[in-house]
Amino acid sequence: QASGRFSASLEAAPLQAALWGDGRQTTFWAYNGSLPGPLIELWEGDQLEIAFRNGLAQPTTIHWHGMPVPPEQDGNPHEPVLPGAQRQYRFSLPAGCAGTYWYHPHPHGHTAEQAFRGLAGAVIVRSKNDPLRHLPEQHLLFSDLKLDDDGQVAANSMADLHDGREGQYLLINGAWQPMIPLAQGERQRWRLWNASSSRILKLALPAHEVLLVGSDGGLLAEGQAIDSLLLPPGGRAELVVTGRFRDGVPAGLISQPYRRGKMMHAEQQQDEVVAGIMRHGMKPTQALPVSLRSIAPLGAPGFRRRIVLSENMADPKAMFLINGRSYDMDRIDGSGKVGRIEEWEVQGNAHMDHPFHLHGTQFQVVARTVDGMWEDEPFLAWRDVVNVAANESVRLRFVQSLPGLRMFHCHILEHEDQGMMAQIDFL
Ligand code: C2O
Ligand code: CU
Ligand code: CU
Repeated sequence: QASGRFSASLEAAPLQAALWGDGRQTTFWAYNGSLPGPLIELWEGDQLEIAFRNGLAQPTTIHWHGMPVPPEQDGNPHEPVLPGAQRQYRFSLPAGCAGTYWYHPHPHGHTAEQAFRGLAGAVIVRSKNDPLRHLPEQHLLFSDLKLDDDGQVAANSMADLHDGREGQYLLINGAWQPMIPLAQGERQRWRLWNASSSRILKLALPAHEVLLVGSDGGLLAEGQAIDSLLLPPGGRAELVVTGRFRDGVPAGLISQPYRRGKMMHAEQQQDEVVAGIMRHGMKPTQALPVSLRSIAPLGAPGFRRRIVLSENMADPKAMFLINGRSYDMDRIDGSGKVGRIEEWEVQGNAHMDHPFHLHGTQFQVVARTVDGMWEDEPFLAWRDVVNVAANESVRLRFVQSLPGLRMFHCHILEHEDQGMMAQIDFL
């Protein structure tokens, strides 16, 4: 499979599904009638052609989250596809971009609703010299389902608009508490996507051995042993999981409580099992290469900016701000240069965590504050989402390699829709 060309068609449209076997139908919005949308598997160097049709009653777009796509192909709010209309998305994938990405709608003001009704799908870009290609893969795309008393997808409440929406059901690949088969001693590569509107996932697999091997933009230089994984909305990770079933230690995948400063909702208090791990025989443990790839640190920045994330509870029309302003499609918030290293200091001048996302490129986090003191990041990783906790600051570096207007925003989609977004023109 190395044709170099990839074509597919996608349609966003309503979908009726009976979720719980009691025959009751829930209306979702889905890509190609599937929840989540179809997995798109690509190779570095591929040329893509996606024929898209909007079967919804409101404008939409397809945003290729995290991928190095030119702005006019990236489904940003400036490129709406009207109800009933079609368009082609065309772009090619540069060498070195192998990683774990996703696609979701990004129309002005409707992103949150379209995503929580079911529009999201996974993208994997593979490389010919992937050092982990021998491992079997599991794909876990998390989404958050909130149903009302009639079993329909609930509209956002005031509390959701403020705190970000969280539902009763954390789904994995559209299923509630699925079972994942794993053999004793077996090594698997897991790719995880947090496609929920606002839940910051803190995941643990208490019984088994877990190595973090990849972030949003592909493999790390070396695996990192972890006890738990913090995955903000929009973020992705790759793990190598080794089956180590032990008596008395729960084998399941656990979601642990994480306090993100919500004001109107209760925070999760207890561990929740979000997937079962089904013991499936015994397998020899395969060797892992120590070095996965090389990641060169981005050097000294040629330009610096400060990005301040803040909340203004006094103004219900502009509660969530970037540098004191609410998003305006017709206002350009700054300009940058293609090919120049920028360093941004993103400050969470806020009560809540706000996961920060930048379009068009991957960045390296270089440092963040811990109790007000700067600490260097322990290892290099390519990311496009970083959680900025309340009163935390994060320094990140990146280079945009394609010209045009790029958005950056909070990936709590309710906050983004309410204006916690801005845009810079890279020339
Ligand atoms: Cu996944 Cu602008 O977002
Ligand atoms: Cu994005
Ligand atoms: Cu936010």
